[in-house]
Amino acid sequence: MSNLQKNNQFSTEDVQIESLSHEGRGVARINGKTVFVSGALPGESVAINYTRRKPKFDEAEVQEIKQPSPNRVEAACNHFGLCGGCSLQHVDSDYQIAHKQAVVLEQLSHIGNVQPQKIISPITGNIWAYRFKARLGVKYVAKKNKVLVGFRERKNPSFIADIDECLVLDSSIGKRIAELKLLIDSLSIRSKIPQLEVAIGESESVIILRHLENLSTEDIALLDAYSIDSGIVILLQGGNINSVTTLHGSKPNFLDYNLPIEDIRIQFSPMDFTQVNPEINQKMVEKVVEFLELHNRDTVLDLFCGLGNFTLPIARHSHFVTGVEGAQRQVDGAIKNAEVNGISNAEFKCIDLYSDNIDYAQLSGKYNKLLLDPPRSGAKEVISSLNMDKIQKLVYVSCNPATLARDAGILVKEKGYMFKMLGVIDMFPHTSHVESVAVFDK
Ligand SMILES: C[S@@+](CC[C@H](N)C(=O)[O-])C[C@H]1O[C@@H](n2cnc3c(N)ncnc32)[C@H](O)[C@@H]1O
Repeated sequence: MSNLQKNNQFSTEDVQIESLSHEGRGVARINGKTVFVSGALPGESVAINYTRRKPKFDEAEVQEIKQPSPNRVEAACNHFGLCGGCSLQHVDSDYQIAHKQAVVLEQLSHIGNVQPQKIISPITGNIWAYRFKARLGVKYVAKKNKVLVGFRERKNPSFIADIDECLVLDSSIGKRIAELKLLIDSLSIRSKIPQLEVAIGESESVIILRHLENLSTEDIALLDAYSIDSGIVILLQGGNINSVTTLHGSKPNFLDYNLPIEDIRIQFSPMDFTQVNPEINQKMVEKVVEFLELHNRDTVLDLFCGLGNFTLPIARHSHFVTGVEGAQRQVDGAIKNAEVNGISNAEFKCIDLYSDNIDYAQLSGKYNKLLLDPPRSGAKEVISSLNMDKIQKLVYVSCNPATLARDAGILVKEKGYMFKMLGVIDMFPHTSHVESVAVFDK
């Protein structure tokens, strides 16, 4: 008997759900103590089972829904609940994005003490098979004598979820998870493959198999046969990111995606950072270009520019743009992408934007507009140190509401910007990830 059972902590209780936590759990209050209830929605009356008691809050899961929410829907995926890839499939998509908008506004007010003057309609798209980039865990489980391929389990993130398909991944891979499990199980080094990386371009789907021991000739033949049969390109990664090769030891080809409205084609290597949702990416790039209100006298600074996803469209509408990025391979890719697209009014620099030793003089003075698209940790270092006197308009694309809120606070309270607009972006439907775009004016 576990300690929870001994202490009668598995007791069942009826509760009323008051709200939804940031990561999608129902929140109830029992005698003043907060209980996070997995699978419950605001307004619902549910019977719960406690799963964990802590001094400040408890955790529980739904045992029975007594009064369902009108926003509740049947989860489409059989693995929902087990798989940690999605946490919101039980809520309709309008509610999901409204919830994400509420999360961003709450964080802006709570952390940054700021609010936008205007909230634009969410940027939305397909809610299934939208994901073109993913890292899946792989594990040979001796006890089950099988290989698992998937995201982490929701309740036990140290385990890989035993799934056979994934409805949010592009179907070229999402429908083939069961096949991939069998394929890896058939390899002599099945216990030495910790993960696979998925990257999908406009015309090819790629899997990069990370392996900790060498594959045998038979293994290569099996992978080759599967690759021919499925049309999936299989690459091998025996060491660091530069060690990736085709099954036959040659350099992998580039993938590409298009930004049709700008007539831009972005080439990328399967190991590069690209936005996970190409349909939403196209809409997001268009909105960012619109929000920057570009004209041919503008000189724009695009920080955290990656392969030029925003930089090159910005170049089409402005006098000049500088893209700055910390990874040299991405900078090299961006330079190549500018060439491929015949763009000569863009330059790219490799700078670690979190370093204490940046020569800010090279980034200050000549720019009148700024785009920021940082990783989750945000852009505090840059906005605190950059001379922004001449920057009249700033657009900030964020994948983390907490750091956006902190940085928005600095922009408004210390740098003299007005917080003009905010919009949430449905980049990751059914998950608790929140993407948003914020516009600031001097
Ligand atoms: C959210 S991505 C955005 C990329 C690009 N704007 C796009 O839309 O594809 C963030 C980018 O920041 C880059 N990055 C991460 N750490 C960095 C650092 N310390 N200095 C500069 N760039 C960094 C990553 O390599 C990545 O390309």
